[in-house]
Amino acid sequence: MSRYPFPIPYGWFQVCTPEEVAGASAKALFYFDRHLVAWRDEPGELHVMDAFCPHLGAHLGHGGTVEGCEIQCPFHGWRFDGDGTNVDIPYSSRTNQRARIRTYPTLEVNGKSLVWFHPDPEVGPRWDVPALPELDSGEFVGPVRTRHTVMAHAQELGENAVDAAHFRYVHNTAEVPEITSYETDGPMADMRSVQRFPTPRGVVDGKIESLGYGPGVSIVRFSGIVDTLLVTSTTPIDEGSCETRFDFYTRSLGDSETTSNVAQAFVAEVDRQFLEDMPVWEHKAHLTRPALADTDGPFMAFRKWYHQFYAEADGPGAGDERTLFPPPHWPEKMAETPARATASARHGRG
Ligand code: FES
Ligand SMILES: [Fe+2]
Repeated sequence: MSRYPFPIPYGWFQVCTPEEVAGASAKALFYFDRHLVAWRDEPGELHVMDAFCPHLGAHLGHGGTVEGCEIQCPFHGWRFDGDGTNVDIPYSSRTNQRARIRTYPTLEVNGKSLVWFHPDPEVGPRWDVPALPELDSGEFVGPVRTRHTVMAHAQELGENAVDAAHFRYVHNTAEVPEITSYETDGPMADMRSVQRFPTPRGVVDGKIESLGYGPGVSIVRFSGIVDTLLVTSTTPIDEGSCETRFDFYTRSLGDSETTSNVAQAFVAEVDRQFLEDMPVWEHKAHLTRPALADTDGPFMAFRKWYHQFYAEADGPGAGDERTLFPPPHWPEKMAETPARATASARHGRG
């Protein structure tokens, strides 16, 4: 029985940072329910391919070595180029042209190493992720990075952004953001909201502008108290889990200690909220027909937008008549005390 009525989405997804695959090196990865190898050739280009050598199945990310623009298998020394073509068998005068490895388009931008994943290898990138002008302006400091693995489908995490009402109950915030607009254009989603932030100097009106570049990457700009840029990525590990990485950049406030303190406080708050959301995501059921309040956020518009990234019409759960998809029973996770228990107790609902 599948956990969700949808498969792994397609798009640009972060699989590492440029520093994590530095020099001429190879690294084992697991995303999109696949074993992968990421390697950087000597001129500096990043390659991501399926992990297993077509000769006898060795994992190229465990002991594979890079020389020039080729990766060499640790098992019998066969070599492959960045297109996944076999270019040398050291103990034969011929190559094996049937020994091909699937490769994935890569893009390194905004401090993230992205991969284009689509279940069909013939379908190449359908949109771009632009370089952010702020990061070249010299006015922003960062990044401060966080990273989490969540036992839930990436779509569930994305839905959190349009859910204004949960802030009060999960995050115990005094003020709830108000979504002022939600517009989509093909793979792009543009959401604007306003939020009042209590500060020691009174309440400040803040603005949040969130741009989604497909399901995997979004850019969130906070303004009001201090300009903060958050570059987020959500990458499917498999159909029931994903990894998020947040990179925070803060507009320099002049002196670096103040900037760093403000940035650390902001990151800590966003991370605290993320950890409060996690037990909800991991234990919730997915309802295909949620019972919404008229003042709830644009849930169905979000789901319609997200649905375009499912290429496989007959993915898991397709044709399933259920409207409720429960999570697995995880005794070890049941023992964890969710942070939200405390927040609920404060609201007198515990
Ligand atoms: S398994 Fe890779 S060269 Fe033999
Ligand atoms: Fe949240």
